[in-house]
Order: sequence, then C-alpha cells, then structure tokens
Amino acid sequence: MSKGSRSVTVLAWMAAILCILVALVSYRFLLLGVPTSMEFLAYHLPGNRWFLHAHIAVAPLTLALLPVQLSSRLRKRYPRLHRWGGRIYVLLIMLSGVAALQLATTTQSGPVAAAGFALLGVIWLIVTGLGFWTGWKRDLLLHRRWMIRSAALTFAAVTLRIYLPLSMVFGLPFDPAYTAIAWLSWVPNLIAAEIYLRSGNRMNQRVT
Ligand code: HEM
Repeated sequence: MSKGSRSVTVLAWMAAILCILVALVSYRFLLLGVPTSMEFLAYHLPGNRWFLHAHIAVAPLTLALLPVQLSSRLRKRYPRLHRWGGRIYVLLIMLSGVAALQLATTTQSGPVAAAGFALLGVIWLIVTGLGFWTGWKRDLLLHRRWMIRSAALTFAAVTLRIYLPLSMVFGLPFDPAYTAIAWLSWVPNLIAAEIYLRSGNRMNQRVT
C-alpha cells in the first residue's frame, strides 16, 4: 500500500470513529433527559417536543450508517446490505431533515444561524433525494456523486461538534461563534466534496 493510500485509509477510519462517537454521545438525552443533557436546546421542548425528539433520536442513526454505506469493501461483499442501508439512510434523513427544518426556523440562536441550519436542512433533503433517485434509476455514477455530497452534509454533525469546543478553547464568545459554526460546519465540507468529485479520481468520471 502506498503512503498516500495509507493516509487516506487512516483518515477514513478516523472519520468513521468520529461518526460513531458523535452518534453515541447524541443519545445522552436517553439517560439524562433533554433539559439536563442539552440544556441550551430545552426551550424547544414546550412547542417543538416532537420535532426535537424526532431530530435527536433519528439523525444520529444517519451518521452511524455513513461508515457502512461508504465502505467499498462492504458494498462489494454485501450489496443487499448496501441497498437496504441506503433506503434506511434516506428515510431517516427525510424524517430528521424535516424535523431539523422546524428546529432551524424556531431556533433562538438568531436569524443568521437559523438561515445556516435551514439551508443545510434543505440542501441535505434535496441532495439525498437525488442520491436516492439516481440509485433507483441505476445511474451509479450520479448516485455515487450525490451520495458523497449527502455524506459531506451528514458529516456536518461531526464538524459542528469539533468546531464548537475549539471555539471555547480559543475563548471565542459563544453566540457569534455558534452563528458562524451554523455555516462553517457544512459549507467547507460541501466544497471539499466538490473538489474531490472534480479531482482526477477515475471513479468520479463517466467512462465513455
Ligand atoms: C445535516 C442536517 C442537519 C441539520 C439542518 C440540523 C439542524 C439542527 C438544529 C437546527 C438543531 C437545533 C439547534 C438550535 O436550535 O440551536 C439541531 C440539534 C441537534 N442535532 Fe442536528 N441537524 C442536522 C444533522 C444532524 C445529524 C446528522 C445529527 C447526528 C448526530 C444531529 C444531531 C443533533 C443533536 C444531537 C442535536 C441536539 C443538540 C446537540 O447535542 O448539539 N443533527 N440540529
């Protein structure tokens, strides 16, 4: 294995571990309840109880599914697992994405953060829907491209939880940092996915 592909493998493993860790930690509300474990979001409870629970109970599963869906070894060895995993991934995003939109439009974090989360939610739903549609039509090249974009957006849940503690370490004031992170958690991910898709990797190009 070349040095380059070894680094890619290490990065992929690190990303997979982060997905699983963030998904597991998200379920802290099951043990401690939302008011204790997610105090800063408890204001959603009176009006948005169902949307909040739909989001925080379902979205972490999409993150946990990412390593399974993206593993080329699992995809080749167990194609049925990939197909069923994909259907479940899309269904879970439709549920938690709609709930995320409701949370985004009622967040008390200000209009700029609300716009960041809302736009992420809309693009997440559309991109994942296109991934499903192209997979359904067996256009595997386009399916792969849309799902890589979808994965980059799902991964925003990880990048947000990396940037937030980092902003605290650097002593940045919470409100403006949170507002910036509502955008920074996903826009660079999407740009990185786009750069990767336009790179020379022959798996990303249609061979004619
Ligand atoms: C990618 C599209 C997503 C959008 C648009 C979105 C949006 C939101 C919004 C608006 C909130 C409430 C924030 C506030 O009111 O300040 C929230 C909270 C939360 N989201 Fe998401 N989310 C997305 C993906 C995910 C994923 C993939 C996970 C998986 C772990 C996740 C887990 C959570 C959790 C656990 C909370 C509660 C607060 C926390 O623990 O940080 N979300 N999300």
